[in-house]
Amino acid sequence: MALLEVHDLRTQFRSRAGIVQAVDGVSFHVDEGEMLALVGESGCGKSVTAQSIMRLVPTPGGEIVGGQVMFKGRDILTMPARELRSIRGGGISLVPQDPMTSLNPVLPIGRQITESLKVHLGLRGAAARARAVDLLDMVGIPAPATRLRSYPHQFSGGMRQRVMIAMALSCDPSLILADEITTALDVTIQAQILELLKRLTRELGTAVIFITHDLGVVAGMAERVNVMYGGQIVERATTVDLFDTPRMPYTWGLLGSVPRLDQPRQGKLRPIDGYPPNLAEPPPGCRFAPRCAFRRDVCLEEPPALVSVPAADGRIQEARCWGMREPGDGGWLRGQSWRAALREQNREQNEVHHA
Ligand SMILES: Nc1ncnc2c1ncn2[C@@H]1O[C@H](COP(=O)(O)OP(=O)(O)O)[C@@H](O)[C@H]1O
Ligand SMILES: [Mg+2]
Repeated sequence: MALLEVHDLRTQFRSRAGIVQAVDGVSFHVDEGEMLALVGESGCGKSVTAQSIMRLVPTPGGEIVGGQVMFKGRDILTMPARELRSIRGGGISLVPQDPMTSLNPVLPIGRQITESLKVHLGLRGAAARARAVDLLDMVGIPAPATRLRSYPHQFSGGMRQRVMIAMALSCDPSLILADEITTALDVTIQAQILELLKRLTRELGTAVIFITHDLGVVAGMAERVNVMYGGQIVERATTVDLFDTPRMPYTWGLLGSVPRLDQPRQGKLRPIDGYPPNLAEPPPGCRFAPRCAFRRDVCLEEPPALVSVPAADGRIQEARCWGMREPGDGGWLRGQSWRAALREQNREQNEVHHA
């Protein structure tokens, strides 16, 4: 049994522009102790997926309208409040993007950690303080006993993110949701924090949903990747297969805009032209079709399903793309090399620019 099984999750927001389908039929699973990546550009529904897993969708306006979130075999979306509290306090923890919005600026760090230990584990006094010192030490904060008296603003960005990781681990969760935890940090600090998260969760056997907009940081972190676009999963594969044989042009685009350390650089990096769809009015066909250089009529008219395609060594990966169907069944992108396709796309665009 998977640790977490998300099935056909649907979360909406009511807005002036209409109903925003932020998460629209998302299914995936996370195994015990696994690090799973959830990748996509901004506005694709990654954070709302994480919020929905903990039933923390902002209200009023936000609502989970369908699906199941099975955690250790129990559906979080329908469980009683009491059980939900125990999951939020121990089963699943969230490491947020911006520690400053989650830490209380007027309380010393130590108080915030011991308070959480009191609420969730019933630890008090010297026992709670000792555990807080251990936690800060574990995440590599020097002089932890002294640092307990510091306020959040007295820590650097990287140190604050270490404190957040310590707090997330304090109640010994089975699953951590790490939502863009290094986005605000510079590259060197980012690498240190990612290494820390990877090492600690491996040692403790904690599963992680690692959320990022940057496919470049996924290699070396996660074993499997889910690519999200327009509120849906559009491609799913092992990290190796995703980098070697990405199937969907959206993933090609993400890779095209990612610096690859293991490949000589081919020309200049370019992001994907255009913007993710407005989820109050998603395109009727494939949600990526309006930006896709490889689209055909069917792409603009009918939404494609997530289908299985063969990957290396008998593995399968999945892609939501009309160009990926069986040969003879309109699968015009099947077997095409993404590097060749991107080169061709770049060449055509250069010609347009020079015309
Ligand atoms: N609190 C909210 N109120 C209204 N719309 C929201 C709210 N949070 C997110 N959304 C919308 O839901 C969609 C997905 O957002 P989000 O999950 O935050 O994207 P990501 O984390 O991938 O950048 C976006 O269209 C966003 O505008
Ligand atoms: Mg987000």
